[in-house]
Amino acid sequence: MLRLLRDPNLIHPEKLTLLLNIANLAETLGMSCYLVGGSVRDLLLGRPINDLDVIVEGDAIKLAKKLVEVYGGKQTPHFKFRTAFWHVPNSDHVVDLITARIESYEKPGALPMVAPSTIEEDLRRRDFTINAMALRLDGKDMGEVLDPLGGKADLERGVIRVLHPNSFLDDPTRIFRAIRYEVRYGFAIEPETLRLINPNSLKILESLSGERLRNELNLILDENLSAQMMRRVAGLGVLNFIHPKMPEFDQTYSDYLEMDLNLDIESDRRAMGFILWFMDLSEEDIFLLVNRLDFSNEMSLNVWSGAQLKRSLIHLAGSPPSVWTYALEKLPLLAIYAVYLVSHEDALLSYISIWRHVKPHTAGNELKAMGLAAGPRFGEILLRLRSAWLDGEVNNETQEKELLARLMRGE
Ligand code: CTP
Repeated sequence: MLRLLRDPNLIHPEKLTLLLNIANLAETLGMSCYLVGGSVRDLLLGRPINDLDVIVEGDAIKLAKKLVEVYGGKQTPHFKFRTAFWHVPNSDHVVDLITARIESYEKPGALPMVAPSTIEEDLRRRDFTINAMALRLDGKDMGEVLDPLGGKADLERGVIRVLHPNSFLDDPTRIFRAIRYEVRYGFAIEPETLRLINPNSLKILESLSGERLRNELNLILDENLSAQMMRRVAGLGVLNFIHPKMPEFDQTYSDYLEMDLNLDIESDRRAMGFILWFMDLSEEDIFLLVNRLDFSNEMSLNVWSGAQLKRSLIHLAGSPPSVWTYALEKLPLLAIYAVYLVSHEDALLSYISIWRHVKPHTAGNELKAMGLAAGPRFGEILLRLRSAWLDGEVNNETQEKELLARLMRGE
């Protein structure tokens, strides 16, 4: 395992140094120190690791404080779970420092109660065998893999297996996690684990907060194979438990998630995902889902605009550019682009790349200078000039000034 840890293709040498410094300091504090969870899984799969989850038998907050004392940076403690983030100085690395703990769930789906414990106990509170391994970082056993639950064998077999039958009842967000790992790695959810994804565990999803559910959907949308994951989510009957109106993701839209936006629109895979996902819903259903998932105003506007615009296309088809422009102007560009992708309506692309930038040369202060008092007429004239440009009624500044003169004469 030391070989994997030292492989610069899997872990950046800078990060390795960081890990070893943490481990050395932990050792001086008498805490054994491990890399844990997803990073161990990915190292064993030969995949590069990004997140550093470090666990100690001891007190992670104490270790974080010491790290700040010795190396600088800052730490953010989380007292309830006795975890801390260490923000490494002069870099954007953040290391997640965890105190080995046992967890108990007061009621299904609730956040767990915790108490400090050993690494072995800590591994037992985790979601799947493949995530329940630890790699020793300090002392003479450095490089040793702790695998009490058969994670390595399951990695080799390619299976996702829970550690105990109540795992999804304790935390039904693990249903989404199982699907993410299954599709991401081309694994299979092991049959007994699959049987545990049933109405008993799914029902608990109904009691989860919008934020927790949305977070899981976001994590799926962040993945390369998100459309496939969403198909699996639907196939396992999960959608109805998120909300009865939750639609399936249209798989024919999946390529659109991969679109590289070259159109000075800020790309946002999550927003694009939800716009596409909800595009064919009625306004009422969007309202229900936006509430269930506790969307931000911005995200709500995105999904609402996408669906609204798609429905309006039939009325807008064949309209002159000025009509398109005024219809689109208040809508988020990403929603317009999403509707373009699914409809191939050229006017939407023309709007994004050309029409929205078209403005008359005449400015408000020129109208003032011409003796026009500020008021609604002001806006009307500027709008009329802009439409004239958009619809090809004027094509140069002279023509614009001629039109302006006519408008000022009230013609
Ligand atoms: N974990 C868990 N149950 C959860 C969430 C997390 O047991 N509901 C544990 C798993 O051991 C997991 C670790 O916490 O490996 C870290 O969680 P996270 O960072 O969300 O996952 P990663 O394993 O890093 O996976 P990913 O590559 O998807 O980020």
